[in-house]
Formats: sequence, C-alpha cells, structure tokens
Amino acid sequence: TKAKKFKVKYLKDQIGERVKAFGWVHRIRKQSNKLMFVIVRDGTGFVQTVLAGDLALTYDAQVLHVETCVKIYGKIVEDERAVGGIELQADYWKVVGQTDTRYESIVSKESGVDNLLKNRHLVLRGENTSRIIKLRSTVLKCLRDHYFSRDYIEVNPPTLVQTQCEGGSTLFKLDYFGETAYLTQSSQLYLETLNSSYGDVFCIASSYRAEKSKTRRHLTEFLQVEAECPFIKFEDLLTRIEDLVCDTVKRILESPMKEEALKMNPDLKVPERPFLRMNYTDAIEYCNKNKIYKDDKKNIFEFGDDITEKPEREMTDKIGKPIFLIKFPAVMKSFYMLRSKENELLTDSVDLLMPGVGEIVGGSMRENDLNKLLKRYEENGLKDKDYYWYTDQRRFGSAPHGGYGLGLGRFLCWAFNVRHIRDVVLYPRTLGRCFP
Ligand code: 4AD
Ligand code: MG
Repeated sequence: TKAKKFKVKYLKDQIGERVKAFGWVHRIRKQSNKLMFVIVRDGTGFVQTVLAGDLALTYDAQVLHVETCVKIYGKIVEDERAVGGIELQADYWKVVGQTDTRYESIVSKESGVDNLLKNRHLVLRGENTSRIIKLRSTVLKCLRDHYFSRDYIEVNPPTLVQTQCEGGSTLFKLDYFGETAYLTQSSQLYLETLNSSYGDVFCIASSYRAEKSKTRRHLTEFLQVEAECPFIKFEDLLTRIEDLVCDTVKRILESPMKEEALKMNPDLKVPERPFLRMNYTDAIEYCNKNKIYKDDKKNIFEFGDDITEKPEREMTDKIGKPIFLIKFPAVMKSFYMLRSKENELLTDSVDLLMPGVGEIVGGSMRENDLNKLLKRYEENGLKDKDYYWYTDQRRFGSAPHGGYGLGLGRFLCWAFNVRHIRDVVLYPRTLGRCFP
C-alpha cells in the first residue's frame, strides 16, 4: 500500500498503519550491529524509529549521525517504553540531507556562552530551547485569547517613529531619508491615540532600547505586550494587570502545552489575588531597613532614587510573591504619567515585580489635561510640535485613561524559571550582539 505522510505528532493515531515520516535525527542508540533505535524529530514531536536487520547494515546507517535529515517508511506499533508510546518500525529509509558531524561539539554545554550565542541557529534545535520557544508561542496565544475574551482590539502601530516615550538616553537613532527617526521604545503613545476609535486596545510589538547595561533581563530588542484603556481609574489599572497575569497563567495550564510548562516550572500556578500593593516610599524604607542597598558602595536609598535591578530583585525575592510597586516619584518617570491627586510629586504609576525576575510590567495613568501635558513637554525638553498627534487626544474629547506594557521575555523567565532572558528569545539582541 502507498504510505501516507504524517507529521510526527499525529503518528500515534496510526497504530497498525504503514506511514511515511520526515525529520531530523535527534538521538541514536545502537543496540547491536543489526539493531538501531533512532529518535527522529520534525518540530511537532519525537518518534522512536527502529532500524533492524539489513536496514541497520547499510553504509548510511553505519555512519548515521545526529541532525541528518531522513525520510522513513514503516509501520506504527504500540510500545510503552518509547516516547509517545509508539514506535516506527522502518521497512525503508533514506538520507534526505547529510550532516556535518561537528554539530554536537558546537552546541555542547562546554562550548561556552559566546559560542552558543554565535551558533544560536543550531542551539535552537535542542530539546530545551525548542520547548521554551514553543511555550513562547503558546503564551502569545494565551495573551491574545485573554484580550479577545475581554473585547480588546489588536492593533499594529509603527516601530519607526520620530518621538520618544521613555527618555532620550536609550533611543536608537537612524537616518530616515535625511530626517532623524528612531526605533520605537514603546507603542504606548500610539495606543493612546486609538482609545477614542476602538476603546480598549492592545498590541504585541518589538520595542527597542539602546541599553548599555548587561543584565540577565535586558535586551536591546524585546517584545512588549501593551494595552491602553479609557475610562479606568488607577485601581482598575492594577486589577487589569492582575487579571492579565492570572488569566494568562490559567490559560497556559489549560493548554496542550501544560505538561511542557510544568516540566520547566513544576510550581507554576495562578498567583493569589489581590497582589500586594507597596508604595515606592515604603519600598525604599523596606530596603533601607533590610540591608538592601542602592549600589555596591552600600549607599542607602533616598526619595527619587531608582530602585535598580539588583536591589529590586533582592526585595522581591525576600517578599516572595508578586508586588505592585506603585506611586513612583515624578522626577524619575516619563512625561506622560498622571500626577497623584494626593501628592503632585508622585505619579499614578505601577511596576509589577515577580520573584526571580523583578519588574515584568510597567504602567501608569496618563496625563489627560491638555495644558498640563504641554507643560510636561517643556519640563522634559520635548518639542510639542513633534507630539501634536499625541496632544490632540487631549484637544478632541480628552478621556481619563491608563495602560501598561508587559515584557514578554521577562514574563517567560518568571513563568518558566529561566534565569537569563536571552534563553527565551530566538536570536537575542544585546549590548554588542546583533547577529545571527
Ligand atoms: O517599564 P517600561 O519602560 O514601560 C513602557 O515602555 C511603557 N511605555 C509601557 C506602557 O505603559 N505602555 O517597559 C515595560 C516593560 C518592562 O516592565 C519590562 O518588562 C519590559 O517592558 N522591558 C524590557 N524587557 C527586556 N529588555 C529591556 N531592555 C526592557 N525594557 C523594558
Ligand atoms: Mg519600567
């Protein structure tokens, strides 16, 4: 009979049938001269293939090496000991593409971080890396499902822009046909322009920061999941962020990738709500009391100091659960943030901190008073004419609104216990690395 072609993941439904499958050799175990077990991978799954008798004696079989691309014909039989509970008993097989036999030495753990990053295109074939990248795909689906279930519209703002959102020091500048343009730091300003046409909006887009710092949670290009919502109060903003995080974890745990997720992090569960709320001023006091220092020189925090990565994570790990760090001083925050009613020096702003990672979300209510916004441009040295389209939201029916951005890479690090953000993206962009 003519064998039908199947993706590996569907072979389990073909018990007793003769099939055709394609893939790459993932592992080889030689039982004897005449019996080989070959794990074949095609991206949808792994299948144990048996090469027995003459099939194991051919020249190709004798020199078979991992990463060889193969085509296999054979019968599917049940086998509890094999991956997925089935075995592909080959009756014919063929090399589709030969492999360079140095593969394993290139991607071995001993080959060093730099070498692994340089060969990221090969590392991506590995089991652990593939699992993370597939989980990333699942998480993106869960995030989208979350938003769609709550009536948000997905939009795609441009990433080539002529305005800044998060301060001039991390802008990537480029020549745009003789004009100055930047790679966007955040889609927020564009999202704000869309509330009056579409209500709640979200986008999933690359953001860029010329971050000079080398940390395990900073990239120069990263995917940001941003939302902007009209007619909400600061407390609603916090509730929406809680809802996003908790509902997304719930969806991951209900997805077909649940087991893979739990392999990465056996403790993954929906966090308890409500999250702890902590004022910035209480946070610096907490740090000062608990010997968590501002810097390596053991300076203590004063009002207006940024809580940088290290102390932020020390504090979060000590508290050991999600924290909404709220009400940051205006001096350390961007021009668009709404000042707090009770204290003009503070803003209605929030960072969500997670154990192991620290900040994974940043958000705020936005200044929606036209004249105050014009004043903020001036204070921040921004030219109001560059921002006319942003300002117009306050000119034509200004509405109270707020939003946030979640760093996808940081969410993945938190959810799946990954130490370094470079391990959860395909091809990390960091200080000094823009390839492959
Ligand atoms: O806190 P950030 O800078 O906030 C904004 O950009 C707002 N405009 C978002 C908004 O309100 N729409 O960045 C938001 C999140 C951070 O909490 C972090 O998770 C992630 O984006 N992030 C980075 N992730 C990786 N590498 C970097 N260099 C990042 N910078 C920010
Ligand atoms: Mg931030």
